[in-house]
Amino acid sequence: MTMTSRVALDPFGADITAEYARLRALGPIVPVELPGGIPAWAPTGYDTLKGLILDPRVSKDPRKHWSLWPEIGEHPSWGWIMGWVGVVNMLSTYGPDHTRLRKLVAPSFTARRTELMRTRVEEITAELLEQLAVAGESGEPVDVRAGFAQPLPMRLICELFGVPEDMREDTGRMIAAIMDTSDPSPEHAASVQQQIGTVLPALIAYKSAHPGDDMTTELIKVRDDEDGDRLSDEELLYTLLLVIGAGFETTVNLIGNAVVALLTHPEQLAAVRAGEISWDGVIDEVLRVHPSIASLPLRFAVSDITVDGVTIPAGDAILTTYAGAGTDPAHYGESAESFDAGRGADDHMAFGIGVHRCIGAPLARMEAGTALPALFERFPGLELAVTPEELRQVPSFIAYGWQEIPVRLGG
Ligand code: HEM
Repeated sequence: MTMTSRVALDPFGADITAEYARLRALGPIVPVELPGGIPAWAPTGYDTLKGLILDPRVSKDPRKHWSLWPEIGEHPSWGWIMGWVGVVNMLSTYGPDHTRLRKLVAPSFTARRTELMRTRVEEITAELLEQLAVAGESGEPVDVRAGFAQPLPMRLICELFGVPEDMREDTGRMIAAIMDTSDPSPEHAASVQQQIGTVLPALIAYKSAHPGDDMTTELIKVRDDEDGDRLSDEELLYTLLLVIGAGFETTVNLIGNAVVALLTHPEQLAAVRAGEISWDGVIDEVLRVHPSIASLPLRFAVSDITVDGVTIPAGDAILTTYAGAGTDPAHYGESAESFDAGRGADDHMAFGIGVHRCIGAPLARMEAGTALPALFERFPGLELAVTPEELRQVPSFIAYGWQEIPVRLGG
């Protein structure tokens, strides 16, 4: 396959579902180009993706298994990928390195530990709903993303990690910049690296001087523990980046996508209100059709892998294509692209599967499962203040969510 026959992915992710339908028509695994021209293979169906994620010949460590790793620096427009694969944490490691880095953080996010955060989530939810009510008192539209979907997970994760108030805005800006794949310029990549190199060292320095009952303090202790698991400076920084980043942007979009899905499917909202469809059903269906992580860069073939008649050569990159899998008609039937909260499809892979499956899934589910019923109960007349066509997707082929969600709160 030559470079010219690669399909360039839309760096803005303007219509991710339609893009996957087009790719699927080309075959089970399609050669694509990520922004800036980075070559990768995109599995387009559920079974193909699942098989690849679970295949032990597929790695997440670019340093060991990506043939193009040594030449990234030679391509000025490839620098943006470093925010995803250049990080040294559990997301981009393989085998024992991955196990070691994951076990430092995973125990803090078990279903049992997550349950302990429920009261705090309820408190923040109640506070934000009051603020939203005040903002919408005049009947003017309010942005339910900026006023609700975003601050809830942001506040929670910042409290968990002891991020002080005055560092939260910079933290949010850094995560949004990493998610924004619309600009593969070296300047954008440099700005992202500059933010990572400023915001996180500032947090580590602050928590070293002001230790508290938070996870940053815990991780700093591991770094400094001479006999223990030995987190290097680099691993500490990138583990914080991963968990703080993954801990909020994804959940923001889960809540936002659910609000839009319900407001554009009033008959399903009525069924939810009537108790005929569960909130868990809504959350799973949103994750299936509009997974907060639509596609994740990157995985790598450790040896030649032949799947569905296509050979991915050793050293090639593979995109993890959750949005393609979630809307695959071969798995979910002809209506795969439609939102149907009553369909009971809870086998989506939006939280990943296998050894890299999301450690924050119970937390994200709990946050959305608290926020959504509270929002719709508080504002029974909630409605979109724009047409669905006017909503704009965040500029990313990775993140799947709406930039703004203007609503009227109703009487
Ligand atoms: C709707 C919300 C969320 C979605 C859709 C989501 C999605 C994902 C996905 C797809 C993966 C697998 C990546 C892979 O296969 O390589 C993953 C991994 C991960 N997620 Fe989440 N996530 C969410 C929320 C969270 C939260 C709240 C946290 C933390 C508090 C979190 C922390 C992580 C971490 C640390 C990993 C890496 C696990 C590993 O590589 O071993 N995520 N997430």
